[in-house]
Amino acid sequence: MTEKRPSLGGIASGDRDKLMDSVRAGRRAGRDRRPAAPAAGAEAPAKRRAFDFTELPQVRQLQMQRAAAEMMGIGNPFFRPHDGLAAGTTTIDGKVYDNFASYNYVGLNGHPEVIAAAQAAVDTYGVSVSASRVVAGERPIHRQLEEALARIHGTEAAVVMVSGHATNVTTIGHLMNKGDLILTDQLVHNSIAEGARLSGATRINFPHDDLDALERLLAENRHKYEHVLIVVEGLYSMDGDFPDLRRVVKLKQAYDAWLLVDEAHSIGVLGETGRGIAEHYGVDPNEVEMWMGTLSKTFSSCGGYIAASRVLCDYLKATAPGFVFSVGLSPALTAAATKSAELLEREPERVARLQANGQHFLKAAKAAGLDTGPSAGYSVVPVIVGDSIGAVTLANRLLERGVNALPIIFPAVAEKAARLRFFITSEHTFEQIDRVVAITAEELDGVRAGGSAVERLLKATR
Ligand SMILES: Cc1ncc(COP(=O)(O)O)c(C=O)c1O
Repeated sequence: MTEKRPSLGGIASGDRDKLMDSVRAGRRAGRDRRPAAPAAGAEAPAKRRAFDFTELPQVRQLQMQRAAAEMMGIGNPFFRPHDGLAAGTTTIDGKVYDNFASYNYVGLNGHPEVIAAAQAAVDTYGVSVSASRVVAGERPIHRQLEEALARIHGTEAAVVMVSGHATNVTTIGHLMNKGDLILTDQLVHNSIAEGARLSGATRINFPHDDLDALERLLAENRHKYEHVLIVVEGLYSMDGDFPDLRRVVKLKQAYDAWLLVDEAHSIGVLGETGRGIAEHYGVDPNEVEMWMGTLSKTFSSCGGYIAASRVLCDYLKATAPGFVFSVGLSPALTAAATKSAELLEREPERVARLQANGQHFLKAAKAAGLDTGPSAGYSVVPVIVGDSIGAVTLANRLLERGVNALPIIFPAVAEKAARLRFFITSEHTFEQIDRVVAITAEELDGVRAGGSAVERLLKATR
């Protein structure tokens, strides 16, 4: 006796079996994620409204954190709108603050020549290039910017993309593959981690700036992988220190690995003329496979780039998804970055001012007893607070005293390393730095006197 099966949508059971066999393999992956089909004859479920994302545990967790902060009377220091240009000072809600939260490192954002160049580009090309550069989006100003960046880095060529973050994601994600190895300093930027994840390559972190550990990892693993990429930063965005590039280059040569140096916070900052960590150490730029940089800091624009050999830049332009399948950089941003690059070359005294300010900030902060971690005193100086609530409270207290400096909290850094991060620029003055350091030391004492994070939370809930 044959089993009587219910018919599905009017299809006879034999036909249905054949149909199911043919699609079963392809549907296996998606099947788990789909809601079960209603049984034949069952009533159609009531129509649901769009999914309410407050049901997601991770959304609920965020809301609980915010509610806890509110309960403790801690204002949200993030997403505060500024009224105008953020330089050495900034205006928020009509009030002027000493500003240490913007990475306008050599003060080119708002420079009259940069603004004029951006405006001229808009007049000529409009606000968008309206296509990927591969198709109809190429403009002569893109090449001019790439030539300027290659000149500054001392490489054969450069390729510009629409975001710094996307540059790391697409370059690393595209170039590296399963069977390859990516060795990263434990403190590298999220964009590098995302690129590594996308690539499918194995990623191993080495402890921050521990080049002995990097060497051990290379010795143990090099032979197991086809290509190995080492990624370090020219100046670490959270701690403000930088690696011994000469030794990293020696290691990459000894173990036949590739090297990518992310110069987001070191170009325009390190080296006598701001050419970055290669200039600082006197390393030949062509010994490094990829110099990655962003346009959003020293170059007072928005976007990212890889400066490298002509062959590699050409390959990325022809095949990297984040370049090929994304619009060309907008005319205003392209022209602003090019003019900023020219100004950096023309006015190296900006770099000298930034370096003097960074050293002055570090010295003053240490003298005031602040914990600045391993910062070398250039564009980034952290002040370690030790817990996220304390760091947010300190930032809010500083704002009340006329200082804008933002907290970096868990999970961006470990909870016990929660901190305020001060970005130093050529536009600050010694007098401003002395005042801000003194206020920070005073307010940090006040925050500490208020007890630990747990004690503050208990007090607030009593
Ligand atoms: C080290 C590093 N790399 C890449 C990026 C991404 O650059 P952008 O913000 O210009 O997208 C950042 C951002 O600050 C960074 O700190």
